[in-house]
Amino acid sequence: MKKVIAYCFVAAFLSSTAFANSEWIEKQAKYSQDMILKNTSRPDTAPGFVIAAPSRVSPNYYYHWVRDAALVMKSLELHLPEAQSESILKDYVQLVLHHQSVPTLAGLGEVKFNPNGTSFMGPWGRPQNDGPALRVIALTDLAFRLLDKGEVDYVKTYLYQSALPAYTAIKRDLEYVGHHWIETDFDLWEEVRGHHFYTRMAQRKALLLGATLAERLDDSGAAIFYRFQADQIAEQLERHWNSGKNYIETTLDRSTFEGLDYKYSNLDASVILSALHTNDTGLSFGVQDPRVQATFYALHQTYKEIYSINKGSDEVGIGRYPEDTYYNGNPWFLLTNGFAEYLFELVTHYRYTGQIEVTSINQDFMKKFAKIDQGITIIQKNDANFESAINKLLDQAHAYINKTKRHAGPDGQLDEQFDRNTGFMKSARDLTWSYSSFITMYEAYKASQ
Ligand code: NOJ
Ligand code: NOJ
Repeated sequence: MKKVIAYCFVAAFLSSTAFANSEWIEKQAKYSQDMILKNTSRPDTAPGFVIAAPSRVSPNYYYHWVRDAALVMKSLELHLPEAQSESILKDYVQLVLHHQSVPTLAGLGEVKFNPNGTSFMGPWGRPQNDGPALRVIALTDLAFRLLDKGEVDYVKTYLYQSALPAYTAIKRDLEYVGHHWIETDFDLWEEVRGHHFYTRMAQRKALLLGATLAERLDDSGAAIFYRFQADQIAEQLERHWNSGKNYIETTLDRSTFEGLDYKYSNLDASVILSALHTNDTGLSFGVQDPRVQATFYALHQTYKEIYSINKGSDEVGIGRYPEDTYYNGNPWFLLTNGFAEYLFELVTHYRYTGQIEVTSINQDFMKKFAKIDQGITIIQKNDANFESAINKLLDQAHAYINKTKRHAGPDGQLDEQFDRNTGFMKSARDLTWSYSSFITMYEAYKASQ
């Protein structure tokens, strides 16, 4: 008996919230997985079709959104047993090939597709060029996996064949990304036309993965081209850093003819998603980049201030951007989960490298979330405060999880948003992306243990 109590005490001392949450997290991960599967390959849609949400009115989300679906596929690849995810992904491949060949109003930058297989033809913010890039990111994972198992024929038939004009899924999207990244498009929130940090991050990652795949399949000319484009995108990404504001600006070169014009702060939580969805700490603007950390800090402080349900606590619900008016502008589950995921990824990175670097750019972040208050410094693994900094970051990750838990339904329901004043869920019910964001957060949580 004594032993048990002592153990509980130590665990509680290390991370009280983490300890209290673990059971709920397991349950919510299971529920999220079930809900994703329920929203995928439904009887009234083609196999591989992912509805953004079962909601058909106010708002109507009964479509396959290219972005949402690609992110959902990525989460399944990460989470499900290999055989199960592979069979869903292979259905998805066939659907992608179909979507790439039907008439659309925006080429491969088309945003969403109807359950009957045609593209959405109503007015919308298009093109959205993060879509093809995210598809590449989801599908290259599958391609590498299959190549490792010797399924070269499958890969060459459906995913990557060097022949031009391209007719395989990954190659088509790569050619599109490689030749169109320079153009302006609509952002992931479908509202602003310009050059977007999120889109560019996805495009760079897609081209780099594509280059690796091309090399593996002896398409070396293409590999050089993709890598060259990726390097140029990397240069453009630097322009988004605003040292005066000390955060990354979401959109540059905004069109004054099309799209919203009131995002004055240019501060946007999608910057944090970019680091998660491209998951590459070897490149600029990964989770470990002080500029991303500074942006994370600015977003947290802003939402703590402007949403009344966030006042007076660091259990902060995260919204898209401060000026948002969609459903009156509220915190979103996928962003709040994303903020937790971010900190788990960061902890994993620090454990791996064994050092935490505090610079003039991320000082505020480190002071607030890691409780490192020594000014500019490097903290090594064997320094006394390394472990305590890690635990503080984990505590904050759990603070975001607590926020999700507080506003989720009793059975685990996650809609798109929760009201900034009342906390009740809002907008699309059972948003598939809310669930997949929980799944990727869960995987990052487990990896950080
Ligand atoms: C629907 C889009 O999906 C959403 O992101 C946007 O905020 C609203 N339309 C308003 O433009
Ligand atoms: C609106 C969001 O702004 C957009 O990012 C998303 O793709 C659609 N809803 C569908 O979930």
